[in-house]
Amino acid sequence: MSTAGGLLQGNEFRLCRAAGSAYIAAVQDPFPKPIDAGTRYCAVFGHPVGHSASPAMQNAGMAALGLNWRYLAFDVVPTHLRSALDGARVMRFVGLNLTVPHKLMAMDLVDVLDESAQSWGAVNTIRFEAQDATGRWVPVWQTDDEGSPIRAHGFNTDADAIGRALRKDLGIECSGARAVVLGAGGAGRVAALKLAADGARELFLVNRTQEKAEAVAAEIRRRYNSCRVGLGYPVGTVDVVLNATSLGLRRGDALPVDLGRLDLRRVGAVFDMIYRPAETPLLAAARAAGCRTANGLGMLLYQGARALELWTGRPAPESVMRQALTEHVHGS
Ligand code: ATR
Repeated sequence: MSTAGGLLQGNEFRLCRAAGSAYIAAVQDPFPKPIDAGTRYCAVFGHPVGHSASPAMQNAGMAALGLNWRYLAFDVVPTHLRSALDGARVMRFVGLNLTVPHKLMAMDLVDVLDESAQSWGAVNTIRFEAQDATGRWVPVWQTDDEGSPIRAHGFNTDADAIGRALRKDLGIECSGARAVVLGAGGAGRVAALKLAADGARELFLVNRTQEKAEAVAAEIRRRYNSCRVGLGYPVGTVDVVLNATSLGLRRGDALPVDLGRLDLRRVGAVFDMIYRPAETPLLAAARAAGCRTANGLGMLLYQGARALELWTGRPAPESVMRQALTEHVHGS
């Protein structure tokens, strides 16, 4: 099936071609009522941000909760991050997500850091809060007191999402696990630290730039000394291999792993943080070798669901959000 899209009388549509016939499918706005003066906003700030699947997922979730809220995406260059945060604050936005390259810089720009942000050294979710009549800080949308100062409270929902994805999508318990982490950039560092924090027995870090893997290993040894950590490939069986490199995003990319040095038949499960394409060459090779596999869609869902819970104080409608995400990313 192939698709093209556009706007028709204000409604988004997709022109779909399947089995030799063409039809127009309307992409439904999930909200029953249009935007009005009472609508509240959340947004993702990134640079670039055009690829973000978060608006599709979050708007579906907000609509399912019956909220008159909307979730937007803004391309914010790093030099404007501070002003953009101030703008959202004074316009009484409910909250924000931050994506590449803002997560580290935001550590110095929010007013309060939740333990999750402190622990992982990055902020991917902000909740704007105001003081209620008793002086308690509550989500800004819960108070109409326009005189109250508003603070930005920073959280990190990425690391927990990695743990949940491993558990729910692959049946992996981090505790006692032997794991290989491919990549030692921002995502690889958080993945390795999360595995160590959750009790992984042994970690093997593999990265093109050795010094970055060494720095992550040193941080793990300092913070989680019950976890054995080394650089390079393991001998024997491992429970999970996690890809946090960008290899696999583009057609023709090399595999992120040297199959001469890692026998996938001795690996229980492979998790690839990439979700587009849905099956990377690494996941295809892992499936062929009999491993359980999962791509990064679950992780994206779980970090977004947790952000929505932080903003609303209510459980996130995960099945609706998962469906919206899958439709957005894979078109089905
Ligand atoms: P993110 O925030 O997504 O982790 P990043 O910090 O830029 O992004 O990290 C990208 C990861 O992919 C790094 O581990 C990077 O390896 P280096 O640390 O050596 O740069 C890895 N990566 C990117 N392109 C690669 C390539 N062509 N070959 C091998 N590794 C690559």
